[in-house]
Amino acid sequence: MDKKLLIVGNWKMHLSVHQSSLLVHRLGERIAHHRDVEVVIAPSMLALQPLSVEIDRRRFRLAAQDAFYKDEGPCTGEVSFAMLGDLVHYAIVGHSWRRLNAGDTLDVVRDKVQAAIRNGIAPIICIGETKQERDAGEAKQVIHDQLTTALMNLTSKDIENVVLTYEPVWAISTADGIIAKPHDAESMISYMRSQVQELYGERAAKNMRVLYGGSVNEHDVRSYLELPEVDGVLVGAASLNYHQFAEIVRVAHQLQTERK
Ligand code: PGA
Repeated sequence: MDKKLLIVGNWKMHLSVHQSSLLVHRLGERIAHHRDVEVVIAPSMLALQPLSVEIDRRRFRLAAQDAFYKDEGPCTGEVSFAMLGDLVHYAIVGHSWRRLNAGDTLDVVRDKVQAAIRNGIAPIICIGETKQERDAGEAKQVIHDQLTTALMNLTSKDIENVVLTYEPVWAISTADGIIAKPHDAESMISYMRSQVQELYGERAAKNMRVLYGGSVNEHDVRSYLELPEVDGVLVGAASLNYHQFAEIVRVAHQLQTERK
């Protein structure tokens, strides 16, 4: 069978623990178990523990939005990947908000990817250029640098658990309708696969799941998922609305059914 489509809802810094439980409950009423679509929810750190007990694990998996790269120590205020091992399958690493605002440099992202892998958590690594970088014609160089440092020192076995996401920063949470056209997303994602191929060979590049993220909603999700290079989507704003997120999952399932 083809790769499962992966739909990730990144709730960012929204919702209290109570509101998170409520949203998961509402999603549970609307999203059936689909064998060909994997649905992952990334709530706040605080909500991970209660949700790990409440969710139907056949339907949903959990992701952390971030964690610290050391396993333990005097790192006051941090939560390590080691602590999350029992709670989550995935962790988002290198989200552009963190790269731009929270000191997640290329090296920090690399260390976080390694910490995730070391603790049995699959990293969902976000990669993407800013508008300024794109306008300066540097997009591919930025993607190359982010991708090669993030994957540095990983074995071909480790790579099997890595998910990449192309998230052009200029297309994230845009209220003004600026989005990456499917064609833009596809050409960048094939460039990312070609980089993986250079580092880990053709099979790894083909098997790796690569997602698109940036203002995806229930109306345009199909245009991204239809692209042969795209294995899923990372959804921010639309994942906070259960009608929209359930519809996104439904579209993914419908597409998989049509493909059979
Ligand atoms: P968005 O967020 O869908 O609101 O653009 C995507 C993300 O950055 O996770």
